[in-house]
Amino acid sequence: MANHRLRALFWWIRWSKKEWAIATVGFTLTIFALSFISSSWRDEDSKISQPFDFNSASDFVGLTLLHNAKDRGAFCLDGSVPGYHFQKGYGSGSDNWVLHIEGGGWCNTIASCSLRKNTALGSSKYMERLVHFSGILSRDPSQNPDFFNWNKVKIRYCDGASLAGNPESELKNETKLFFRGHIIWESLMDELLSIGMSKTRQALLSGCSAGGLATLIHCDDLKKLLPETATVKCLADAGFFLDEKDILGNHTMRSFYHDVVLLQGVAKSLHKDCVARMEQSECLFPQQLIRNIQTPVFLVNPAYDFWQIQNVLVPHALDSRGYWKNCRLNIHNCNQSQLKILQGFRNSLLRALSEFQNNKENGMFINSCFSHCQTWMAETWHSPNAPRIDSKTIAESVGDWYFNRKVTKKIDCPYPCNPTCVHMDFTTRG
Ligand SMILES: *[C@@H]1O[C@H](CO)[C@@H](O)[C@H](O)[C@H]1NC(C)=O
Ligand SMILES: *[C@@H]1O[C@H](CO)[C@@H](O)[C@H](O)[C@H]1NC(C)=O
Ligand SMILES: *[C@@H]1O[C@H](CO)[C@@H](O)[C@H](O)[C@H]1NC(C)=O
Repeated sequence: MANHRLRALFWWIRWSKKEWAIATVGFTLTIFALSFISSSWRDEDSKISQPFDFNSASDFVGLTLLHNAKDRGAFCLDGSVPGYHFQKGYGSGSDNWVLHIEGGGWCNTIASCSLRKNTALGSSKYMERLVHFSGILSRDPSQNPDFFNWNKVKIRYCDGASLAGNPESELKNETKLFFRGHIIWESLMDELLSIGMSKTRQALLSGCSAGGLATLIHCDDLKKLLPETATVKCLADAGFFLDEKDILGNHTMRSFYHDVVLLQGVAKSLHKDCVARMEQSECLFPQQLIRNIQTPVFLVNPAYDFWQIQNVLVPHALDSRGYWKNCRLNIHNCNQSQLKILQGFRNSLLRALSEFQNNKENGMFINSCFSHCQTWMAETWHSPNAPRIDSKTIAESVGDWYFNRKVTKKIDCPYPCNPTCVHMDFTTRG
């Protein structure tokens, strides 16, 4: 299958459910041990550029570097020009646009941003030139029933602050780091408007992980840029990062966001009412963001998001004795007391969503899987083995909400009740 050509940030894993090995998302970027991009990633990437069979050729989409970037000062962390992948829509999808913002954590210190500068998440120099469009970006109607013929854009993430940094924060010495996330967003939108997005009838802004957070930050911005008659909605996939304490009772995530906001001048991109009322970094949390979004939003989020369990709830550094090692790698290995803590995390998520849930325009799919991003791979978006709630896949649920076919606010029963889950198993990694 084409997935084996998928790029960096993935590793070979074995799905515990099906016992077949496929490549999947794995954010090796952990917050505290910001990952080091191994040269093997680039080796993987180079395979993508090699000849492939023509049947799948059209599923690979080339990188376009932003044409107006230099004039606008829109730069990746290292000063290189940002990029995106664009596939033209056709037929009934010609005037419809689905945008998907790539994820990949954040950088919160000069050191971690400097490391990131030498990766595809901080520089277009390292971005692979072709990426595979699947899941919500697929042009195959059997894999992507509602959006297959839309214009599709995969937005590359290279600023380290969810497209929300501002240059005022740049260091005025020889530390060369560009904090231009917000300018990247604006320049990119200008370019997309100029290649046809200004005629949009229907649009869906989406993104996974840090890209899901960027989706929430920029959701209303997109709405304002498009024709008033257009339907505009937003889909944040695994972007609902909780303002929760870790297992030792510390505000690990909040202090991490505090550092990102401070370093990259993110406050300027956050909602003024929120920033006036509370600590800037709290305003970067989705539970605050969603209070100020006017545009309809759909949240896809596993209640046991492995990234959050591994970085927000039980950061590696807090588990020096390794009590959580096995549980962090595979939810089936968690014992009763650990599961109780995970159920508490799920309850916090559901509490944080209670207001959101009451808005009739919004939708959600909160499944009880140990996973992270689920919208951009066929295996989890829409396939015979994809996770379901009430027999609907994520693709069907998002479609029902987008096209007003059905009110869609799905909350799965708690783990381990759902046999359709695709749980990640990191123990077989490597
Ligand atoms: C630049 O300034 C920052 C913040 O003041 C400091 O941490 C960093 O070490 C400086 N870099 C150099 C190369 O002097
Ligand atoms: C976390 O909390 C513990 C206990 O409250 C405290 O002793 C420790 O210093 C904190 N650790 C960090 C990294 O803040
Ligand atoms: C679960 O595992 C942890 C870490 O090994 C241990 O401290 C705890 O007592 C265990 N709880 C149960 C109910 O087995």
